[in-house]
Order: sequence, then C-alpha cells, then structure tokens
Amino acid sequence: VPQGTGRVSGVAPAPTTGAQYQRLRSRGSLARVSVHVLPKVLEYHGDMLADPARVGAFRRAIEARVAPGAVVLDLGGGTGVLSALACRAGARRVYMMEAGPVIDFARELLKANGLAERVVTLHGQSIDSTLPEPIDVIISETIGVAAFDEGILSSVLDARRRFGRPGSPPVVIPGQLAMWAAPVSDPALHERLVGRWGAPLSEATGYDVRTLRARAPHHLYIRRVMREHLVAPGVELARVDLATLAEPFVEGTARFPFERGATVHGLAVWFEAELAPGIVISNAPVLEANEDISQHWSHGFLPLSDGLVVGQGETLELTVQVNGGDLWRWCGGVAGGARFDQCTAFGAPLDQIWSPATKPG
Ligand SMILES: C[S@@+](CC[C@H](N)C(=O)[O-])C[C@H]1O[C@@H](n2cnc3c(N)ncnc32)[C@H](O)[C@@H]1O
Repeated sequence: VPQGTGRVSGVAPAPTTGAQYQRLRSRGSLARVSVHVLPKVLEYHGDMLADPARVGAFRRAIEARVAPGAVVLDLGGGTGVLSALACRAGARRVYMMEAGPVIDFARELLKANGLAERVVTLHGQSIDSTLPEPIDVIISETIGVAAFDEGILSSVLDARRRFGRPGSPPVVIPGQLAMWAAPVSDPALHERLVGRWGAPLSEATGYDVRTLRARAPHHLYIRRVMREHLVAPGVELARVDLATLAEPFVEGTARFPFERGATVHGLAVWFEAELAPGIVISNAPVLEANEDISQHWSHGFLPLSDGLVVGQGETLELTVQVNGGDLWRWCGGVAGGARFDQCTAFGAPLDQIWSPATKPG
C-alpha cells in the first residue's frame, strides 16, 4: 500500500502501511475478504433497497404483523432495513442475524439511524447463533430467486424451534412461499451453460475439459429469464406455510401442455411470497424490464442435460424436490417419450455417495 495522507471528511485517516491496514481488517468481519467483495456487497444490497415493490411490501407486512412491544428476529438482516422497519412498527427489541460482511455496514447504518440500542446485531449463520430471550416474530428476506435456494426452509424452521415462545409460535414474514416453474427454450443459454463444456475449449492449451459436460447440467443457475423464452405458461409447483412447515423438504409436480411443439432446454423457477395476508411479491418473468414487478431479482434456471423435444399437443411432466436449500432434484419427461432425472449432487464429483435411485434426503 503506498504512503498516503489523503483524508475523507468524517472518515478515519487511511492507514498508511499495508501492515496497519491488514491489522485493522483482521479485527472485523472483513478478515480474508478480497478487495472485490465490499463493492459487490454494496451493489447487491443497494439494488435490493432500491426495489420499491420489495421494500414497500415488507414495510406493509411488518406494519400489519409486528405488534407494539414485540421481540423480533430479523434473520438475514443485510443492511438492517427490515430491523429498522420493525422498530418503526413498535418492536421493543430486534435481534438481527447476518452471516455476511454487510454486517459492518448494518452496524454503521443502525447507529446513524439511532437504532443501535434497540437492534442487537449478531454476526454469523442463524443456525450457529443463540438468543437471550424468546421472540414473537421472525422476519426473513432470505427468499431465493427460485424460492428455496437461500436456505429459508432450514433456517426458519430452526429459528422457530429454538427461539419461539413455548406455547405461542412466532409470526413468520413471509407467511407463505410458493415455487413456480415453466419450461424454457433458449439454445444460446444452454450452449453457454452446458454445451460448451462438450468441446475441447482451449485449442491453445490442449487442455481437455469435457468431463465437465456431465457436471454442468446438474446445477441451479441464476439467470434473468424473459417471458419470451417460456414455451408453456408457468405453474405453481409447491407452496409452503413457513409458520407450520415441519421438515425442510419440498416436493412439487406439474404438467405443462404444449400448444406448439418446442425444444426444452431447461426450466425457469421463481417464487411467489405472501409476506402477510394479502401482501404478495413475486419475481415471475416479465416481458419488459420496466414492468411493475420486483426488478432486482433474477430467476433460477435448471438446465436439462440435453434439449428435449416436446411435440404439439404433448404434455411435459415435471417433479422438483428441494432438500434444505442446496440439494435440488428435477425429473420428468414426456409421457411415453424421453425422460430426465437430474440433481445438484451430480454437479460436483460426489457420485460415490449418492445414487440416482435414492430420494434426496
Ligand atoms: C436477500 S438479503 C436481504 C437483506 C435484508 N434483510 C433486506 O431485506 O434488505 C439476505 C441476507 O441474508 C443473509 N443470510 C441468509 N441466510 C442467512 C442465515 N441463515 N443466517 C444469517 N444470515 C443469512 C445473507 O448473507 C444476506 O445478506
């Protein structure tokens, strides 16, 4: 780090040597965080804060469900915005759990907003954290692009069980979370995510990457899917009530009749969340980027290993199983025709401990 004397008003002077800088960083949540992480964190949380549909719906749900004097858990608090809204709704105390380095920004913001006393911040995964008192409300905006991919099933279930008041289960925001899916035809996307691993990528090096052609299709990718690529209307596969869910396991089945024949390259998966009765948000694929819907969210994309031809008048069957947030299985096909059966467990070299005949679990 070069010697520097520059000062930014209101901010401590820059440490002048690399050693001083490393010592400072190693004290907080930034230890071992690369220079690229914080700008990404700011951009990610900035996009979420700038989404009026998302923030407005959470504000209304919090106003409806957080009673004055309530003790609240904000699970995955990010910048602390929902903790602040809970305080504004009258919460006596908010415990904010956050696993990522954004916790340092949250602490600064909560202090700047005069909430440092009422909001207790806890750095770490909720599953490893403890609380000094029972809670009345769980707020968790850990809604994944494909509903369950941020681990909301496991973390809310764990929080309900460990932190709820005996005999008085906590209110959960979102109350319900549904997973939707639709078949996608997009050869360019399939080529980029899957197909290109099938050719020796680098003639310059002669390095053969083709074994990864068998790995690449078995992942949940994050993609912005436009409605023009959906070849059948979306169907709700599964809906869970987060206040009563008993296992972090969800299974849903759908049938997609095809009015026109198409080659299916994968499945778009998205969510619909009922935060409180009547307050619903969704990231359903849109036609235009400026349609009035939560815009910062992308979608889940589950590729098929190979394009699947579905003829006019035929029906594509689909089953999706989610265990926790990481283990996804998607299987189905055309009645009497080609089938697929894929799982994120095949996406990494773990085959020896999992067999396709075994239901994830
Ligand atoms: C989608 S962001 C939402 C942030 C904030 N609540 C908001 O609404 O702007 C989810 C945050 O939850 C954190 N997170 C996800 N699961 C968590 C868990 N089990 N324990 C602690 N933090 C978690 C992530 O690090 C991320 O910062």
